[in-house]
Amino acid sequence: MRRWHQSQGVEFLERIGIREGMVVVDFGCRVGHYSIPAGKAVGSRGCVYAVDKNRRALVTLAQSSARHGVRSVRTIRNDGGTTIDLPDSSVDCVLLYDILHMMEKPVRMALYRDVARVLRSGGLLSVHPSHTDAFMPNKYFAGMAIEDVQHEIQDAGLLYQATMWWRISHDSGLMDSSVLNFRKR
Ligand SMILES: C[S@@+](CC[C@H](N)C(=O)[O-])C[C@H]1O[C@@H](n2cnc3c(N)ncnc32)[C@H](O)[C@@H]1O
Repeated sequence: MRRWHQSQGVEFLERIGIREGMVVVDFGCRVGHYSIPAGKAVGSRGCVYAVDKNRRALVTLAQSSARHGVRSVRTIRNDGGTTIDLPDSSVDCVLLYDILHMMEKPVRMALYRDVARVLRSGGLLSVHPSHTDAFMPNKYFAGMAIEDVQHEIQDAGLLYQATMWWRISHDSGLMDSSVLNFRKR
């Protein structure tokens, strides 16, 4: 994962639209396979709020950020709910990567609403909809296609922008995956 953290991940996140100085939320960050490259992409003028309910994962992320010399990542431990503890319209980008399959539909809809609340107008929501029927169907995404995920996010009021096909981090390796991008109106 060294190359992912140092260059491939940064290049991917720049490709989806993350830029220097931005405020990013990595919701369900685990040990930070996206938070760390995002921290490099936003630089010292930006900030990555890395949110997870798992305290041990956040400790590992904090240690890993220090090792990588990334100072723009701030860890936030939540209670496993869907509220993002930040002000309205204060965020440029939210990442929901490899997490939505862990939530029932009403919970996902509540999360999309809070994502829309914290995003500024024109802000980016980027989603890695893993574990649909396209790849290792799991938990609440079993029986769902990637397009079903796209449609429910559109139903929550976010504007669908594009689907990207890219080699990205999943668990502790890299795999070719679809990433869906949306904008707040
Ligand atoms: C499979 S990992 C994905 C990690 C990371 N996004 C990635 O793609 O490498 C999912 C993470 O989401 C966290 N998680 C699940 N539901 C959550 C919630 N409601 N609030 C915060 N974290 C949550 C889990 O603790 C876990 O660390």
